[in-house]
Amino acid sequence: MVDFKAFDARGYRTVDVQTGYGQWSSTYDQTMVDAIDLDLLDALRTMSWPTIARAVDLGCGTGRTGAWLRERGVKSIDGVDTSPEMLAVARSADVYDRLIEADVASSGLAACQYDLVMTCLVDEHLPDLQPLYSEAWRLAAHGGSWVLLGYHPHFMMATGIPTHFDDAAGEPVAIEAHVHLMSEHITIGLRTGWTLVEMKERIIDDSWLQLKPQWTAYRGQPITFALGWRRQSEPTQPRTRP
Ligand SMILES: C[S@@+](CC[C@H](N)C(=O)[O-])C[C@H]1O[C@@H](n2cnc3c(N)ncnc32)[C@H](O)[C@@H]1O
Repeated sequence: MVDFKAFDARGYRTVDVQTGYGQWSSTYDQTMVDAIDLDLLDALRTMSWPTIARAVDLGCGTGRTGAWLRERGVKSIDGVDTSPEMLAVARSADVYDRLIEADVASSGLAACQYDLVMTCLVDEHLPDLQPLYSEAWRLAAHGGSWVLLGYHPHFMMATGIPTHFDDAAGEPVAIEAHVHLMSEHITIGLRTGWTLVEMKERIIDDSWLQLKPQWTAYRGQPITFALGWRRQSEPTQPRTRP
């Protein structure tokens, strides 16, 4: 993990995750640009969404990802988040079968029950990735998949832009963030037993700049990434040199 403070170009007041999402929850859905993650989910080729019977959305927030999964034909979705305020919005969206107030690292849900685990735009808030990778592994059924979509470490370091929102007074406020290099993700994922089946990156391109023209200076930078992991049916051994 690399400390984001070393790259912070904005210097916004920074709050912890509970405080930040508690305050952002009322405007979150209006301020999120779907192109940051939903376009990338659409680009994944190894996930067969309509065949998924049971999914769990770790860090479900207000339910944007859950709603997207429902539209793709996923039949049953549970959501997990630590923020009661974000969960309240998700509850009103009515896309989840169950909503659990818990940490993504210890959801309390039963093991090996989910064909799909989803985690979108959460990992930059975690100081340590291993507990998330282990919990996703525990929840996934044998043969199941995990899609981990994150704010790109390259973008955080190159632009110094933290995850942030405008509070009720209009002040920009950053939410505590950590930089996890892609090598950290891959190393921990393989060590946990996951097989990497796909990786995609979302670049700031013309379609993005039509939505946010003020970001022209960032053209060509990858802003988000998606990793498609699979828990193979057969037990896998982490690869090590003989
Ligand atoms: C940027 S939002 C993403 C929400 C949703 N996945 C989406 O894409 O719209 C990040 C969410 O992760 C949640 N979160 C952050 N750290 C968490 C943790 N350790 N355990 C559970 N939820 C967490 C926050 O409360 C927030 O709702």
